[in-house]
Amino acid sequence: MTKKVGVVGCGQMGAGITQVSAQAGYQVIVNEATEEFLAKGIKNITKQLDKAIEKGKLDQAGKDKILGNIKGTTEFAEFADCDIVIEAVTENMAIKREIFAELDKICKPETIFASNTSSLPIGDLAAITKRRNKFLGLHFFNPVSVMKLVEVVRTLDTSEETFNAAFSFAQSIGKTPVKAKDTPGFIVNVLLIPYLLDSIRQYENGLASREDIDNGMMFGCGHPMGPLTLTDFIGLDTTLYIADIMFEEFKDSHYAAPPLLRRMVNTGYLGKKSGRGFYEYNK
Ligand code: CAA
Repeated sequence: MTKKVGVVGCGQMGAGITQVSAQAGYQVIVNEATEEFLAKGIKNITKQLDKAIEKGKLDQAGKDKILGNIKGTTEFAEFADCDIVIEAVTENMAIKREIFAELDKICKPETIFASNTSSLPIGDLAAITKRRNKFLGLHFFNPVSVMKLVEVVRTLDTSEETFNAAFSFAQSIGKTPVKAKDTPGFIVNVLLIPYLLDSIRQYENGLASREDIDNGMMFGCGHPMGPLTLTDFIGLDTTLYIADIMFEEFKDSHYAAPPLLRRMVNTGYLGKKSGRGFYEYNK
């Protein structure tokens, strides 16, 4: 039974995973590289809870209880007795491998390890540990507190017991889990990324204005955001990074990034987070 959850990384995804786990009543220990990053992450969670209070969806006692379930740290020592550890750091294989190698030495043998990676092979991460059968992917979607889906990614080595425990954990925090294989893009990104790339390609080729492409998909297909707005939201750099990994793996033009996307990323237009992507944002 999962009681204590470890989250590595308190950026956008890590903070969201921490919040939803604490909201579901789990004891959560969350790690960041520095006190400064940690304080920023916890502040973002507090801000989300304050918004919920403003909307009348949470009271002060509820907020205090959720924050009381969260403990921040810049060390890994307190991860030793976690039942599950979810890693949500930057998409860099070397950094993730270093983290899992360290956690493998510290955590009890029963601890399940999960990565929130959207694009790196889970099996390659598991291979660095001595617990390949207790390793899997738990891929959350942004914003984590709103998006219901979690892809539960099974490698060649993930045991049935590990898979079932992680699947139940996802359900226990109010998510809808789906069973995915350890192939690039899992289920959602293998469908979503070509769609976003095609939208950028069509925009680059002059099919229509950015607004009309977005409105087309919002009002014609009922999507909550048009594809160019969604790319800004995900991050142009993240979209390019995932596309490049998928292209490298499949060698299929569906996943080839359009020149405009690469040019925008190289120029520093990263989307909402940088203040400019396909649209401009007030920082
Ligand atoms: N963080 C937390 N909560 C947020 C938020 C954010 N950034 N943005 C909006 N919300 C919350 C709001 O507070 C609101 O909550 P309540 O219902 O409790 O009031 C709710 O979401 C709806 O927000 P709004 O009414 O302000 O706006 P909206 O109806 O336009 O919804 C949205 C905003 C949920 C982001 C919606 O536009 C949407 O679903 N967009 C698509 C998001 C998407 O596709 N995400 C997946 C990206 S792909 C990915 O993450 C994986 C990958 O590997 C790339």
